[in-house]
Amino acid sequence: MAIDPHTFARPDEVVVKHIDLDVTVNFKDKKISGTASLEIENRSLAEELHLDTRGLSIKNVTLDKDKAPAFFVLEPEVPYVGSALRIKVHRDTKVVHIEYATSPNAGALQWLEPDQTRDRKKPFLYTQSQAILARSWIPCQDTPSVRITYSARVRVPSDLLAIMSAENPVKKNDSGLYEFRMLQPIPSYLLALAVGELEFRSTSERTGVYAEPSLVDQAAWEFAETPRMMDTVEPLYGPYLWGRYDILVLPPSFPWGGMENPRLTFVTPTLLTGDRSLVATIAHELAHSWSGNLVTNASWNDFWLNEGFTNYLTYRIMEVVYSKEYSDMLSVIGMQNLQREVKELGPKSADTHLKLNLAGRDPEEGVSSIPYEKGEFFLRTLEAAVGRGKFDAFLHQYFKTFAFQSMDTEHFLEYLNENLLSRNPGVSEKVNINAWLYGPGIPSTIIPVSSPAFQQVEGQLRNWQQGRPAAQLDTNNWTTHHWIHFIRNLPESLNFQQMEDLDHSFHFNEGKNAEITNEWLLQVIAKKYEPDFPVIEEFLTSQGRRKYAKFLFTAMARTEEGKKWAREIYQRIRPLYHNVSREVAERILK
Ligand code: BES
Ligand code: ZN
Repeated sequence: MAIDPHTFARPDEVVVKHIDLDVTVNFKDKKISGTASLEIENRSLAEELHLDTRGLSIKNVTLDKDKAPAFFVLEPEVPYVGSALRIKVHRDTKVVHIEYATSPNAGALQWLEPDQTRDRKKPFLYTQSQAILARSWIPCQDTPSVRITYSARVRVPSDLLAIMSAENPVKKNDSGLYEFRMLQPIPSYLLALAVGELEFRSTSERTGVYAEPSLVDQAAWEFAETPRMMDTVEPLYGPYLWGRYDILVLPPSFPWGGMENPRLTFVTPTLLTGDRSLVATIAHELAHSWSGNLVTNASWNDFWLNEGFTNYLTYRIMEVVYSKEYSDMLSVIGMQNLQREVKELGPKSADTHLKLNLAGRDPEEGVSSIPYEKGEFFLRTLEAAVGRGKFDAFLHQYFKTFAFQSMDTEHFLEYLNENLLSRNPGVSEKVNINAWLYGPGIPSTIIPVSSPAFQQVEGQLRNWQQGRPAAQLDTNNWTTHHWIHFIRNLPESLNFQQMEDLDHSFHFNEGKNAEITNEWLLQVIAKKYEPDFPVIEEFLTSQGRRKYAKFLFTAMARTEEGKKWAREIYQRIRPLYHNVSREVAERILK
């Protein structure tokens, strides 16, 4: 497999197979501390185990049952990737025990005061390990090319519940001690923990939701269609191999829309819109149970193998569970996102290749519409060229063949050639595979997408531009996605009265749906519509998603005064944000 530029691990010499955690979560000191016992396999008579750490203090390292002290060195910190931990081992060493503690500003961890939760009663801790932040709370081989099973004993304050990306309790106990097992081997970026005032509701035999008490019933309602999504994927791509699929709704600062932690997807509370209109995110995180969690990108340069495949699966799920009309709307929005991203990055930029080169950079710089949408449209273009039946069979076999393994772009191409292209002459040329994987921009072979529902929206937009007042437009039965399309396709230049007409008629600034608010605020910034300026800060304070911070701060930073203003807002909201969202804001506003 290709080399992972974001790890110090040398798994071809010594590889970690299992991690046993024995840790205490200390809210007062904002610290996780205890022992990580790593079961290793020495593949090459190597004398050292190389691990990733970041900001960890290493107290002591011992070997095997007799806990013989081991010699170790913690290397100086390198930007983004942290410090290599080198430990002397013997040829027959089986277990390495590392006694350690996290630093109060560990990149994966967010420690929330009661105020920063929904119910404002108890503190909350959650982790976000992807892409390379697992090393900030557990010493490990933090590369997606290595898989481990894990077990954990986690001690938390006895009034809080702890849950992980593993077999989970559904109720608090009095002791505050929780035990976990993850029996399927996973890459380190899927290690996850949350501790807080949480309740569970079952939504089917194998699905459920966890959330703070005041939200848990709403969450169970919003995500009630999850079992249907599971039933849709299994006949297509094979059985769900992780046992349960539960969803945890996090406090508002959670930086991602969703995170596919196995057995326990983490999601933002902004999905709880009361109309189930943002559940494509659930379809997406569920789809990762095949693309990503079963077959895993070998390095972050191959990120499209996780996200492009997952977006493709999402589109297939949404088409079956909802309708073609619905998935067509999502497709057009995806295509627009891709076109914008290519414009933003530059049509010749190497960052628009599916195969990325993120060496020396934060791998989160690779999170753009390229892996997601260009990746999805590559697979859709292939599907269209060979036909759905053959493509489904190919993908099913792909997931089965490489289950619980890692994959890079080159090996995928080899597998694609052998199992699909060689049997379907002409497809390779028709699609122009190389242009997708290793070339810039949007290849000309891309399939077209269109949405009849959006054509109706565009008709109303034209009426409005020709002078019909907003209140008299035909917007009956419009859903979240109609509104998104309407707002983002408003003309380049609008005067104050026109913005005011929209504002007064449709109340986009009321913040009921974060996707709509975000689109509206982008227009507010572009058109300098002052009455809604205060809403920008309110929105960025009410939730902490990286995506919204990225879009809104980028838009503001287009002018000098806008950038100054964005910096002022950011100084105030920074304490509320997870490190992941801080990083992106600081990159834009530096
Ligand atoms: N795995 C990603 C989130 C992620 C990517 C975390 C890279 C860290 C580094 C997750 O599956 C995802 O893609 N989330 C999206 C939602 C989705 C519907 C596109 C998000 O949070 O915006
Ligand atoms: Zn994803």
